[in-house]
Amino acid sequence: MNIRKATINDANGIATVHVESWKTTYQGIVPSSYLAQLRVSEREQNWRRGLQQQKHHIFVAEEDGKVCGFISGGSNRATKGKEADYEGEIYAIYLLKEAQGKGYGTKLLEALVRDFRSDGICSMVVWVLADNPSRQFYERLGGKKIAEEVINIGGKELNEWCYGWRSIECLA
Ligand SMILES: CC(C)(COP(=O)(O)OP(=O)(O)OC[C@H]1O[C@@H](n2cnc3c(N)ncnc32)[C@H](O)[C@@H]1OP(=O)(O)O)[C@@H](O)C(=O)NCCC(=O)NCCS
Repeated sequence: MNIRKATINDANGIATVHVESWKTTYQGIVPSSYLAQLRVSEREQNWRRGLQQQKHHIFVAEEDGKVCGFISGGSNRATKGKEADYEGEIYAIYLLKEAQGKGYGTKLLEALVRDFRSDGICSMVVWVLADNPSRQFYERLGGKKIAEEVINIGGKELNEWCYGWRSIECLA
């Protein structure tokens, strides 16, 4: 397994992982009609734009030369509430089902944190659906629940929790 910065050539690989991982992770949480309409081609266009703009920090994990996971992050998008006191934000972290539980998520997060620190970002947040068991990943890595909100995905109201790290030094 190898972790590296994403390039424009990774747009398809990232989009494929994004869609596949949404389908396995959110089955039974997000409405199935919403999951069924997710298209790699649409996601790929979004990722291609993001990779071209280079505004976000994006890393991929690859196995045998094939993308099996990714992380993206950047400046915290929150403008109010306790969560706005943190500098950085993990926007997304997804691994294919078969790549989970092998430490790749931790390695992706460490790569992002190293980039954050070299940009002077010392704290961060992440939003996660309360029903997603993967939120224990953030707890395991020292994130503390600091806020919650209700969001609507595909016509269903879902609780989303925000985890915060006052200092990301311990994660680097
Ligand atoms: C969440 C995710 C990125 C974690 O990456 P990972 O490679 O599977 O996690 P790691 O192997 O690095 O695990 C690190 C620690 O977190 C714990 N952990 C990870 N996922 C967990 C889960 N679903 N439930 C409980 N604990 C979990 C591990 O047990 C491990 O703890 P340990 O050090 O005591 O053994 C990955 O499982 C994933 O892609 N999940 C599906 C997508 C998702 O939910 N993304 C987050 C959206 S906000």
